[in-house]
Amino acid sequence: MKGVILAGGLGSRLRPLTSVTNKHLLPVYDKPMIYYPIECLVNAGIKEILIVTGGEHAGDFLKLLKNGKELGVNHLEYAYQEGEGGIADALRLAEDFADGDKICVILGDNIIEKNIRKAAGEFFTQKSGAKVLLKEVEDPQRFGVVALDENQKVIDIIEKPADPPSNLAVTGIYFYDADVFDMCNSLEPSARGELEITDVNNFYLKRGDLSYEILEGWWTDAGTFESLHRASKYVAESGANHAD
Ligand code: G1P
Repeated sequence: MKGVILAGGLGSRLRPLTSVTNKHLLPVYDKPMIYYPIECLVNAGIKEILIVTGGEHAGDFLKLLKNGKELGVNHLEYAYQEGEGGIADALRLAEDFADGDKICVILGDNIIEKNIRKAAGEFFTQKSGAKVLLKEVEDPQRFGVVALDENQKVIDIIEKPADPPSNLAVTGIYFYDADVFDMCNSLEPSARGELEITDVNNFYLKRGDLSYEILEGWWTDAGTFESLHRASKYVAESGANHAD
């Protein structure tokens, strides 16, 4: 299985911090944000990684990470996303890199306390389809949120619902088979003008091929001042190193 980290976007919610750098290069406690998703993949044994980025500061990723060896990466590639087409648009750039393999996709601003080894192992043996990692949150309106039936089966995923059907958010850590690229290519832009990863996950759900697991330990994104601060605080307090 290969890893894809999506680290594009303008980071407009973090201006002026992102006026002269990419959001994913900002510090989260004692490391640049991008280190965390890389460590998360490496700790799950996923050491062939593609970073999709964009904007004016894309070259700084190469300066910082070089070939990735210092972080335990065996093979590091970069792709450049033009424009602001959304998560599923950025993912399309990973098709050649994936080359038919299963992939684990992480949003570059998602940081977790523990590790994804168990989920990665399960997806490795899952015959086809996709797997999402869920986490209980206090503010589900900010995320993709699952609706479950009485048997705890996912029946729908709703992006940023005004009236959330549960408090289980879909985290930015996803596992996909090679069909994901056909799905991304068939999407229509949403109301916010983006190709939504939630639409991809709903495709898999409709075809009965979506599994899920609840993530252990804390999880946070880091794309707003509040969540960036929270991420640094969590990391500082727990000494998170994904090794637990
Ligand atoms: C994105 C996804 C959303 C997911 C979240 C996790 O939201 O669209 O479904 O729950 O990442 O971080 P965005 O960061 O684009 O608001």
